[in-house]
Amino acid sequence: MSKIKKCLFPAAGYGTRFLPATKAIPKEMLPVLTKPLLQYGVEEAISADMDTMAIVTGRGKRAIEDHFDISYELEHQIQGTDKEHYLTEIRDVISQSTFSYTRQIEMKGLGHAILSGETLIGHEPFAVILADDLCDNDGEAVLTQMTKLYEKYQCSIVAVEDIPPEDSNKYGVIAGEFESDDIVRVNDMVEKPDPKDAPSNLAIIGRYILTPDIFDIIRDTKPGRGGEVQITDALLTQAKEGRVIAYKFKGKRFDCGSVDGFVEATNYFYDKTK
Ligand code: UTP
Repeated sequence: MSKIKKCLFPAAGYGTRFLPATKAIPKEMLPVLTKPLLQYGVEEAISADMDTMAIVTGRGKRAIEDHFDISYELEHQIQGTDKEHYLTEIRDVISQSTFSYTRQIEMKGLGHAILSGETLIGHEPFAVILADDLCDNDGEAVLTQMTKLYEKYQCSIVAVEDIPPEDSNKYGVIAGEFESDDIVRVNDMVEKPDPKDAPSNLAIIGRYILTPDIFDIIRDTKPGRGGEVQITDALLTQAKEGRVIAYKFKGKRFDCGSVDGFVEATNYFYDKTK
């Protein structure tokens, strides 16, 4: 049985909701307290026993590559000083994983960004983290919960949560048969439906485990909502064959792609330091 070792991070979006902050740096590098969103995501993948981080970037790629690299000048400056501990976390992250990068040349949507990562993933099941969805748990990380489910089901897994019906037009929304309180065998999914057309109140958040046949499916998926190639549309093909499980994860999720969610996450993590 193949273990999931690779995690893909689509990080090529424009992040327009955070302009002007995202004019020259990627949204995924915005910090909650002192740590960029992307580092939280990488730490979650490491805690789920993954060691290969595949990052899809667009403009502003240098800040991401530099972050997950050694800064010799900085290391030299603070080595042996009382400030050295500030680098402990990022040093740990760098030493536990490899990082590879590719560029999404045109921003044609999340499905297209994932397809751009094919060259880094190859033919094996892999995880996807959207770093602007920041998750936190007292127990197991969301991705760890999902890899355990993958071991059982051996198919694509999407993390879902209950949303207020009026928010359905911000998410991919699923429907299907409940196998237990927190597991649904998906048979329908719609990207950003109007509330009146939403098949349920269960929305996909930024955590996926995908089987590698998804790449061929995305290649055959026509642009959908907003003229973008949607991962939800590609997953529907697998769902119709009974090959997608939706999982109501345990934990908290913050939509750090929106200013409100970002501030909420900042307050939450700040309170945790007290
Ligand atoms: P969003 O829908 O949040 O889009 O993308 P965005 O461009 O980042 O932000 P706004 O809406 O303009 O403020 C969800 C995730 O998918 C990635 C983004 O980087 C983000 O992690 N993405 C989206 C890509 O990598 N490429 C795309 O073409 C679209």
